[in-house]
Amino acid sequence: MLTRSSLSRIIYYSRSNLEREPGLLREQEQQLVRQCRRQNEFALITSILVHDRGYFCQMMEGDREALNQTFRKISVDNRHKDVRIVEWREIPRRELLPSFELIERNLMTQEILERFEIDEELARGTPKPSHLHDCFHALQANLLAKRGIEALT
Ligand SMILES: Cc1cc2nc3c(=O)[nH]c(=O)nc-3n(C[C@H](O)[C@H](O)[C@H](O)COP(=O)(O)O)c2cc1C
Repeated sequence: MLTRSSLSRIIYYSRSNLEREPGLLREQEQQLVRQCRRQNEFALITSILVHDRGYFCQMMEGDREALNQTFRKISVDNRHKDVRIVEWREIPRRELLPSFELIERNLMTQEILERFEIDEELARGTPKPSHLHDCFHALQANLLAKRGIEALT
């Protein structure tokens, strides 16, 4: 019998333990991206991770079991701390395209990060799921536009 797998979405945020020195930080980030991209491609997880002003915030989607397993590892990873779940729910369809994309504040993203004031919401500890969700959508549209791909949604 076929078992139908259900899709879930997790949005969480945490405090970064990565190095502050730019050279070391870059190395650590590159390693994280390599590791996560490979694993998410294998587990069919799609996600965007924002790393900004000492915080991580990630939206991830995928099969419920794959997501459970991955999040269990993420929650005990010492590259960050104070992991707080903002939303964990079943969803009817995927909304993200990349397996793993790391977003930082730069010329391409600062307008969006400023408009949504995510850093301030995270610092206050009161981020709203729908607000973060809209921000991830804007970041994805920006990312795809940069690559010359029109948003599918
Ligand atoms: C902020 C942050 C986000 C992460 N996101 C993912 C992710 O999307 N997918 C993933 O497989 N691992 C992610 N990781 C890495 C996991 O915590 C863990 O190191 C990795 O899955 C190791 O898996 P393994 O022990 O099976 O090799 C993330 C780690 C951090 C600190």
